[in-house]
Amino acid sequence: MSINILAIESSCDDTSCAVISDGLLKSNVIASQKVHEAYGGVVPELASRAHQQNIVPVVSEAIRQAGITKDEISAVAFTRGPGLLGSLLVGTSFAKGMAVGLNIPLIDVNHLQAHALSQFIKETEEDEVPEFPYLCLLVSGGNSQIVLVKSPEKMEILGQTIDDAAGEAFDKCAKVMGLPYPGGPHIDRLAAEGDPDKFKFNKPHMPGLDYSFSGLKTSFLYTVRDGLKENPDFIKDNLADLCASLQKTIIDILLNKLKKAIRQTGVKHVTIGGGVSANSGVRSEVEKLCEKEGVKAWIPKRVFTTDNAAMVAIVGYIKYLNKEFCPINLPPFARVTI
Ligand code: KG4
Repeated sequence: MSINILAIESSCDDTSCAVISDGLLKSNVIASQKVHEAYGGVVPELASRAHQQNIVPVVSEAIRQAGITKDEISAVAFTRGPGLLGSLLVGTSFAKGMAVGLNIPLIDVNHLQAHALSQFIKETEEDEVPEFPYLCLLVSGGNSQIVLVKSPEKMEILGQTIDDAAGEAFDKCAKVMGLPYPGGPHIDRLAAEGDPDKFKFNKPHMPGLDYSFSGLKTSFLYTVRDGLKENPDFIKDNLADLCASLQKTIIDILLNKLKKAIRQTGVKHVTIGGGVSANSGVRSEVEKLCEKEGVKAWIPKRVFTTDNAAMVAIVGYIKYLNKEFCPINLPPFARVTI
């Protein structure tokens, strides 16, 4: 009999459900929430309500696309945290209901560990996976970390942001330029047309492998404010150059510490994960850096970089094989580390 893991992800503003059968991805359905665009950021209460509306159709569609029936599901995996508590509660409660209703095991998954293991999602038997230990540059809207992944269970954070995450830097600077939320993808698109050396922004001097992005955000804000004093059309006239220069600075900051971590640990494999790893510049520069350092870069498909249930399902599958199930009364956690 096949092992079919159904996984639910609802940590922020994407409702997602995936099915992995015998280690291969069969479906990965994602419903993104447009409702937040008007507010320039995720509104937690609206996110919970949208999850509530989306969850039944998303789960039904994932089961349908996987070509299985409910009775063939071996276990239900769900994101326990970190994330928005109201959002997590929707996915957690739904997963518990399914596990009880179908009388099958329940598996809790750490969202950050799932990002760090997303390279293990296989769509065909031929897909290759990285070798342990490897480094994961985990960069999302809420986190910027360099993680040493020793095994699926053993991970160590070597460095992390002390203030804003890289995604927040993208989003907050995008807001300054009047771009819609989330700003990262817009900056990515506009940066392709701009001059990355036109503007210089402050880079932090952080010790070790930690990051900081709040100074960059302020420096960006001052550049725009000063520019607008001289020219009311400053943003419009320089949009692509502002985006390209900002993106280059964020990438420089991220890669400077990644390079240090590669040299310090001597790992041979590097992966990237989290929404910011969808960025074209991040992807190509990580590849270049890894080539120079003589290590193998694993660049995930874009759909597996932002929030998705496929990464939750693969962790669920690994935990299922190890019989790591959780009790039915396990609460979700808004804040939890890797
Ligand atoms: O991992 P994710 O989907 O959600 C959480 O943080 O939970 O990451 C979202 C972040 C946002 O800050 C968004 O602007 C950023 O990822 N992002 C990007 C790109 N696509 C998404 N940033 C830069 N370039 C992109 N192409």
